[in-house]
Amino acid sequence: MPGEKAPITVRVASEDDLKQLKQIHTVINKAYRSEGGWTTEAHLVKEERITLQELEATLLDTVNPVLLAYDSETNLPLGTLQIETYEHYPDFGVFTGNGHTNTYVDTVPKEKQAVLGLFSVHPEQQSRGIGRKLVEAALQHIESAMDRTHAMVYVIVQRPELISWYTRLGFIDHGEKMQFPDASRLKDPSIHFCVLRRPLREN
Ligand SMILES: CC(C)(COP(=O)(O)OP(=O)(O)OC[C@H]1O[C@@H](n2cnc3c(N)ncnc32)[C@H](O)[C@@H]1OP(=O)(O)O)[C@@H](O)C(=O)NCCC(=O)NCCS
Repeated sequence: MPGEKAPITVRVASEDDLKQLKQIHTVINKAYRSEGGWTTEAHLVKEERITLQELEATLLDTVNPVLLAYDSETNLPLGTLQIETYEHYPDFGVFTGNGHTNTYVDTVPKEKQAVLGLFSVHPEQQSRGIGRKLVEAALQHIESAMDRTHAMVYVIVQRPELISWYTRLGFIDHGEKMQFPDASRLKDPSIHFCVLRRPLREN
């Protein structure tokens, strides 16, 4: 039908996707570092979200796989989401900066959790359900291929619209906070993350 958008396919990135490395790089950096979408961190964080070299290595990382959303007609990449194992993360520690103190004590073992990151949809393609589709595919992958029970995301606290969306997707804010890893990239030194988690299944 004229004007109707092509279906979106989601797949795990492989070496073959390096053919579109530059296009994928553009999707990520436009999503994070430009205006135009319904949510961005362009006003909060400086510099590229990821360099081409970092992205190349990330797309080949089979332990922490990247899901890619493609337009099934043009085969153009439209979105990304990386699923990271949590046990290779350093302990967040007790975050007491910017007037906040962590009181949340996480009881789920790290090897049962996975972190959703490098999550982007091209600004011109946002708000058509691609982000939700990527999250749903990631939750399924975490459970079936990685045998984990919980997913987590960390979100800059100064982005309430994004936190509300994750909450609608079932993620829960227990009050856990985390420092931004590289303070030199921040446009405002008070910026930090809140950590949201969700069990993959309701018990
Ligand atoms: C976050 C992101 C991946 C979501 O992708 P998306 O394709 O737009 O997501 P969807 O279309 O599935 O969902 C959009 C949601 O935003 C809501 N939305 C749209 N415009 C909005 C606005 N102006 N204010 C608040 N919410 C809005 C929609 O109603 C929808 O919510 P619903 O699913 O409850 O109906 C995308 O916005 C993005 O790339 N952002 C920049 C990078 C980023 O911030 N990544 C996450 C870091 S933690």
